[in-house]
Amino acid sequence: MKRLLSVMLAAIVGGCASAPPSPAPPSDALYRSLGGTPGIERLVDASLARVHADLRINLFFENTDLADLRRLLIEQICAASGGPCVYTGRSMEEAHSGMNLIDEDFNAFVEDLVAAMNEVALAASTQEQVLGLFGPMKPEIVGQ
Ligand code: HEM
Repeated sequence: MKRLLSVMLAAIVGGCASAPPSPAPPSDALYRSLGGTPGIERLVDASLARVHADLRINLFFENTDLADLRRLLIEQICAASGGPCVYTGRSMEEAHSGMNLIDEDFNAFVEDLVAAMNEVALAASTQEQVLGLFGPMKPEIVGQ
């Protein structure tokens, strides 16, 4: 009995020792490169100012609560860059459904974002990573 117990104990301890390590926490490196939440707020403000002044696309936003959109964009970028936020908005399909956005609309939005990233002086590698977050969302936004 004693022997059986020690065999079981060895199996349990051995099992634990060979268990895979728990997954590393998600990196917040991009969040930090963006300057944390204050940096993301500056970026979103600069982007929205440009979108608002952009005659190519600003009509899409004429009935939008901009304070709400600002809050949701900040949450979305914060969460996607590894920051301590939870995105509480709708899915990208849902948020853009019925707008019939085309490639040109998406490109104009991204151009405004890039101009804003330059305005707030984000490093080129940080800009690339932000575009890497937004680019893959295109199919969920265009043509909905
Ligand atoms: C990667 C590009 C884009 C991202 C990350 C993005 C993100 C978002 C987010 C987070 C919201 C809020 C969702 C919610 O209301 O729950 C939103 C709403 C909205 N987006 Fe986009 N968006 C993108 C591209 C575009 C483009 C290209 C346009 C038009 C040119 C656009 C027009 C709008 C409008 C008008 C709303 C407000 C909808 C409403 O008032 O109900 N978005 N977007």
